[in-house]
Amino acid sequence: MPLDSEADLIAPADIKRAIHDIVSDIVAVRRYLHQNPELSHQEDKTSAFVAKRLRDLGLDEVRTDVGGYGVVGEIRGTAATTRPVKTIALRGDMDALPIQETSDLPYRSCVPGVMHACGHDGHTSNLLGAATILAGLRNQFSGTVRLIFQPAEETVGGAKRMCEDGVMQGVDSIVALHGWPGLSVGRIAVRPGPMMASSDTFDLTITGKGAHAAQPHNGIDPIVAAAHVVLALQTVSSREMSPTEPVVVTVAQFHAGTAYNIIPGVAELKGTIRCLTEEHRTEIPERIERIAAGICAGLRAEYRFKFKRGTPVTVNDFAINQLVAETGVEVLGPENVVTLDSPSMGAEDFAIYLKHAPGAMFRLGVGEQMTALHTPTYNFADDALPHSIEIFVRAALKFLAA
Ligand code: NI
Repeated sequence: MPLDSEADLIAPADIKRAIHDIVSDIVAVRRYLHQNPELSHQEDKTSAFVAKRLRDLGLDEVRTDVGGYGVVGEIRGTAATTRPVKTIALRGDMDALPIQETSDLPYRSCVPGVMHACGHDGHTSNLLGAATILAGLRNQFSGTVRLIFQPAEETVGGAKRMCEDGVMQGVDSIVALHGWPGLSVGRIAVRPGPMMASSDTFDLTITGKGAHAAQPHNGIDPIVAAAHVVLALQTVSSREMSPTEPVVVTVAQFHAGTAYNIIPGVAELKGTIRCLTEEHRTEIPERIERIAAGICAGLRAEYRFKFKRGTPVTVNDFAINQLVAETGVEVLGPENVVTLDSPSMGAEDFAIYLKHAPGAMFRLGVGEQMTALHTPTYNFADDALPHSIEIFVRAALKFLAA
């Protein structure tokens, strides 16, 4: 019987065995990274650690300082083929968060006020694990696997800068994962189409006229105007958008005043907008400004509205999502691949890579009981690593062979 793809040359059992052989080392890597977290734009040691590991694997190319502290490794398959060769990118993020870890893990963070509360230690280790396996299989596949170790995901900007430095040049597809609490270890969740929301920000400065707090009629109170604006903004999602099309407008900061007895001259509001379509991303800032303008005019205040575009919507490509789902079924069984009904309104700068090539991000189960992301006791599940490494490796081989 003819082989229908080169991936068939590599027996799944061999891949599993190879992963089994390296998993204790990868768990040690994960714990080392957990213990030594670095904030966004400061991933100096993490990046050097990753680059050394990749060089030790004898990769064809290891580039450092890509878009900041980013590291890019390349594995070029050497198997002969008559088909045009393709490139798949696999991405892992490396940065930690400004949170004081409160767990009593033996490998808890040794950096005060900094911890891997989003599990990027797990994402980085997973990608190093996949790199190790794929480097060992190099003579059994054709095409290229590009390993993207990204800095500064939490502050947004890492993906953009890496793309500006050309990491997506020549890439035909890209895959990433995010560890997900509430989903059991041994399960993944996938979704075609929107997976994560866009994230944009706005600043509203409302200017009135300062006065003695006991003589409000002599001033124009910006706090009262801003309070009306905050309340009226609740109608953007509840009264202006279809109930079946989620958007989020959150005022997350409200600053004004200096004393008990002074009406200040200025109140400042800052917030975030989350959408699932580009149309909404364009419309909603206009709606916010219209509401602010109307209220401020009515209350004699002035306003300045600033809108800043951040991360686009993460939209999973149908075919690549399907490839990940099928790989998940082969690795974990059909009962352990969940198709999500709805996206998360959180955002991911993985969306920026998807502007350059089709790809997909999936959720990796790290345990039903695991505390939420961005909390002081979050801890990526080591047990999930063999599963995620196998999915990355087999999805990459499948893509290159198809
Ligand atoms: Ni994260």
